Amino acid sequence: MKVNNDLKRLQDKISESKLSALEPFTNQAKFVGVGQGRFLTPREELSKISRNYTANNTFGDLIEIGNKNDLDKSLYKILYDQLEKLKPWRKGPFSLFGIHIDSEWKCHMKWARLIKQIRPLAGKRILDVGSGNGYFGFRMLEAGANLVIGLEPHLPYLSQFWAIKLFLPQTDNYVLPYRLEDVTTSSYCFDTVFSMGVIYHRRSPIDHILQLKKCLAPTGQLILETLFVDGPTGFCLMPRKNYARMNNVWFIPSRGTLEQWLARCGFNNINVLDTSTTTTLEQRKTKWMPFDSLGEGLDRSNNALTIEGYPSPRRIIIVASLNG
Ligand SMILES: C[S@@+](CC[C@H](N)C(=O)[O-])C[C@H]1O[C@@H](n2cnc3c(N)ncnc32)[C@H](O)[C@@H]1O
Repeated sequence: MKVNNDLKRLQDKISESKLSALEPFTNQAKFVGVGQGRFLTPREELSKISRNYTANNTFGDLIEIGNKNDLDKSLYKILYDQLEKLKPWRKGPFSLFGIHIDSEWKCHMKWARLIKQIRPLAGKRILDVGSGNGYFGFRMLEAGANLVIGLEPHLPYLSQFWAIKLFLPQTDNYVLPYRLEDVTTSSYCFDTVFSMGVIYHRRSPIDHILQLKKCLAPTGQLILETLFVDGPTGFCLMPRKNYARMNNVWFIPSRGTLEQWLARCGFNNINVLDTSTTTTLEQRKTKWMPFDSLGEGLDRSNNALTIEGYPSPRRIIIVASLNG
């Protein structure tokens, strides 16, 4: 079957660890039942060419899989067409057999802000909530992670991941088609839990933090990345409707509010690693994401404001753990 071997490999990995409570979510029938499994169609199309490649992969700032010489001209064209059909590519960049996918986000910029400051990932089992197409999961493997499990409910991003994964059968980065709240009917012991760019999309940020807590080993570390605004502790911005064109933003906390949310949910060792202003150097329209991007969400006459008149996007990375 389409993903049988991948799921089997994942099952073997989690059965020997403290993550076995995740086993029901690796069940093939449940997995391919999501969206009637249509997110796997591009992968099936690509499976026609996958047997011809030689794996030569590097998971640096650019996730590079294979070389151009690995594919003949006709196979290269099939791959190119399939990757084009998978647009928009929001997270990346990737290079597949010499096809450079210049994604909307230069994700390596976010990664560089945190990787040297968090607890080492070598040997760790990691949960990446809202993993998108799995870009950061590959970076976690580059840093030595033993296993990365992503959670991603958006089917087009799942399609991208599982198409890429076809070429990486020995790589322990997996993206499951579930929301965090779907899997937190049980508790888990991940060594590191990432939630990046998710909490402001949640209607209940406190529940999101409590669900993240349920996934973390007592000795583990949480990495939470979000939009934030200036303001006193207790303050957060709830947009009237849209924020920088996005219609799914609910709460943007101040730094103090975010720290307080974490503390009230039982986290300790709460430390801010980085704050940054998001610019069009990092997030912009490209050939592979041809739709509106950050530039269209900002006030043309004053980049400090969004088109709705709110403070323009700034992001914060914060770490926390459960033991004192
Ligand atoms: C803004 S993107 C961030 C992607 C990536 N983590 C990053 O930092 O660039 C937010 C992602 O979270 C996903 N997401 C939203 N709600 C979620 C939930 N309840 N559980 C898991 N993922 C969720 C979205 O589908 C989307 O891919």
